[in-house]
Formats: sequence, structure tokens, C-alpha cells
Amino acid sequence: MSADLAKFNAAQAALEFVKDGMIVGLGTGSTSAHFVRLLGERVRQGLRVKGVPTSEATRNLAEQAGVPLIEISQVSAIDVDIDGADEIDPDFRLIKGGGGALLREKIVAAAAKRMVVIADESKWVETLGAFPLPVEVTRFGFALTQERVRAALGEVGCKGSTVTLRVSGKANEPVITDGGNYILDAHAERIPNAEALAGALQSVAGVVEHGLFIGLAQTVVLGKAKGAEVKTR
Ligand code: 5RP
Repeated sequence: MSADLAKFNAAQAALEFVKDGMIVGLGTGSTSAHFVRLLGERVRQGLRVKGVPTSEATRNLAEQAGVPLIEISQVSAIDVDIDGADEIDPDFRLIKGGGGALLREKIVAAAAKRMVVIADESKWVETLGAFPLPVEVTRFGFALTQERVRAALGEVGCKGSTVTLRVSGKANEPVITDGGNYILDAHAERIPNAEALAGALQSVAGVVEHGLFIGLAQTVVLGKAKGAEVKTR
């Protein structure tokens, strides 16, 4: 099965959560990109919405797709946030940030009345952790922060984890987020207690945000080869 078709099917099914007049959080990544383009089609057919993008990449895409945007500073709440995920567990805990947008994604998800996660079904896992957990950190002192993140993982049952600085390009330059920070990827293989890890990471100086999204998603739309399955808590 093509993962991209399943992503498209999830994005299409999520349109049912968008109603006329809503303020809509627009996620980042390939699944969210399908959603933004589909939303643009609906806007051309007369749907009135305003989008709050979770990254500069999504802002550009939304502008091209014709989705009207509003600055997050001008809204007091977001009606629905539609965003992708790297992993989803049965309690709707997520790993996000594979695309590096976790900070804005979490701010938008936390401001939303409902977060709808859209993903191909391969993202559904019993236990989080096979996907490396992104952790956004300040550039200042990042090597010290990297060591403390590694220690925090060990304290909550993820012993032996490695933590790498995310780099890209031929020159292996560090990836810089929209917020001007670095990203560390924590290779835990398995996260037995996501809540404990979230708490431990929050207390590390230099950590701006981590990619564990706990208690934020109410709905998961899992795209399949044909159609999508909607799960709600
Ligand atoms: C970006 C994210 C994405 O939602 C996540 O990486 C999933 O991406 P894709 O839809 O391309 O599989 O968290 O920061």
C-alpha cells in the first residue's frame, strides 16, 4: 500500500471536523500538507475558515493553496487543530516533531478545543519510542543539554538511549527550527513511561519543548488504502 495514499485518505476524512466559520490549526508534514491543499479546495467552493499555521513551511503552503490565515496573537482559541504525528499509542499519546515543528505544533494543539491527528495507519504503535523523540533545545549550551537529556532518559527507564543533534545537507549543518533553536533526537527504542519522561525533560535547562504530546489529541484519523478509520476518546 502507498503510505502517501493513506495519508491523503486521512487528510480527506478530517475535513468533516471543519465547519464554516472555524479557526483551524494547520499542522506540518506531508499528511498535513494534503489537508491544507484539500482545505484550499473547500475554501474555493465557499467554506469560510481562517488557518493558524504551525510552521513557516505550512504558512507558505497555505498561502499557495488559498487558505486565509490569521496570526495566533489575534485569536483567543482555535476551534480545531488538524496535525500529523510520527507515532500514536492507544491512549492517544503522540510523538511529534519529525518535521521539526514541535514547538509551534504544541502551542497550537494546546490552544485548540479539539486536536485531530491525521496519519497513515503505520503510525499506530503499542508503545512509543521506536521513532526517535525530537527535543527542541537552545543553541546556547546545547552539548550540555544533550548530556542532561541523555541522563533524563536513563532516569525514567530508557537506559542506553543515545541523543543526537539533528543535522541536514551535505555539510551536516545543524537543523535550525522556526524558533531559531536546535533539535536533538532521543533514540530510546521504547518509552515505558511517557509521562515520567515528559516531566523529566521539562525540568532540563535548555530544553525548549519536547515532542511528547500527552492528553492533547481527542481524535485520531488513521488513513488506510481505502478510506480512513476515525477513533475518538
Ligand atoms: C512535524 C510533525 C509531523 O506531523 C510528523 O513528523 C508527521 O509527518 P508526516 O505527516 O510527513 O508523516 O510532527 O513536526
